Amino acid sequence: KKKLERQKVYFDINREAGKYFYEHLVQRKNPALNYLIKRGLTTRTIKSFGLGYAINSWDDLLNYLIQKGYKIETIEQCGLIIKNKEKNNYYNRFRNRIMFPIFDVKGNVIGFGGRVFDDSLPKYLNSPETAYFNKSQTLYGLNIASKHSRTGRVILVEGYTDVIALHQEGFKNTVATLGTSFTKGHAILLKKYFNEVIICFDGDSAGSKATLRSIEILENVHISIRVLILPNNIDPDDFIKKYGEKAFEAKIEEALSAIDYKIYLAQKQHPSGSTEDQIKLGKKIANIIREIDSPIEQEAYIKKIEEKTGISKNAIISEIYGKKTTTD
Ligand code: CTP
Ligand code: MN
Ligand code: MN
Ligand code: MN
Ligand code: MN
Repeated sequence: KKKLERQKVYFDINREAGKYFYEHLVQRKNPALNYLIKRGLTTRTIKSFGLGYAINSWDDLLNYLIQKGYKIETIEQCGLIIKNKEKNNYYNRFRNRIMFPIFDVKGNVIGFGGRVFDDSLPKYLNSPETAYFNKSQTLYGLNIASKHSRTGRVILVEGYTDVIALHQEGFKNTVATLGTSFTKGHAILLKKYFNEVIICFDGDSAGSKATLRSIEILENVHISIRVLILPNNIDPDDFIKKYGEKAFEAKIEEALSAIDYKIYLAQKQHPSGSTEDQIKLGKKIANIIREIDSPIEQEAYIKKIEEKTGISKNAIISEIYGKKTTTD
């Protein structure tokens, strides 16, 4: 009972803070709003995600919440203010940032992400984890995406702005992790609402590493997995702005199976066709095929390898089943 009351106060404070940030963003012209408009966000999108503006102040939000009757320790527990132990006072965690409220599936505000709107660092600052905010159990956008699960398909991206841009263009089944890596908790959460994940991380080496790790995790919850490949150094937000939603839709249709994605990456790493590259590529592909449980699936992939890489079916099969041709 006590615990439920505490939780309610936590949600109330976060909601009040979110409303306060939102009012500052939309009430009058300000650099944060200009920045968002320049990035192509509509006022409707800003409203539906409840975006806001934490003005450049050490204590405005603090004073506002105190005046609303909330206890300073409780506000601190929400992660909105930080205690200065030397001066024995408190100050706002978020100053001069665009605010992204983070909702749980039920629509409670459980934390915030805050982005600078110039080149200063850190680019994003997030609420700390609390008793009610567990990053490895939360997906940004799931409160909306869970209501758009008709197709059974979810698009998994890296960033807040990717979720927002895709939702705005009609892909409301998009979610992101909160700047942390994808976990088993996230996979279980996705499986509750969806039966297919399209992984669509940034087109850079961090993105492809994260894709491989996420595939491993998703395989354990038996959800169907495909990977959407973006051009180099482009993220979903960049892509949809540059090429539009039709092109993104086409990318979804072209998305690769997990195995084809692994083969694609191996080919990208060993593209030259030199003897050395062909050997490395062949061994990598054999390792990828070996991990497939179903013999029928194995055969289907093996059939395609020859045309894709020029490595013969027989060589791959021998490699997989450990027929030794050399003594080393
Ligand atoms: N992130 C974070 N802290 C940082 C950088 C990133 O928490 N210092 C998280 C944020 O959730 C961010 C995600 O990682 O949305 C992806 O990072 P990045 O690709 O750098 O940012 P974008 O989402 O592309 O943001 P923007 O387009 O505004 O630059
Ligand atoms: Mn990135
Ligand atoms: Mn981006
Ligand atoms: Mn990005
Ligand atoms: Mn459009």
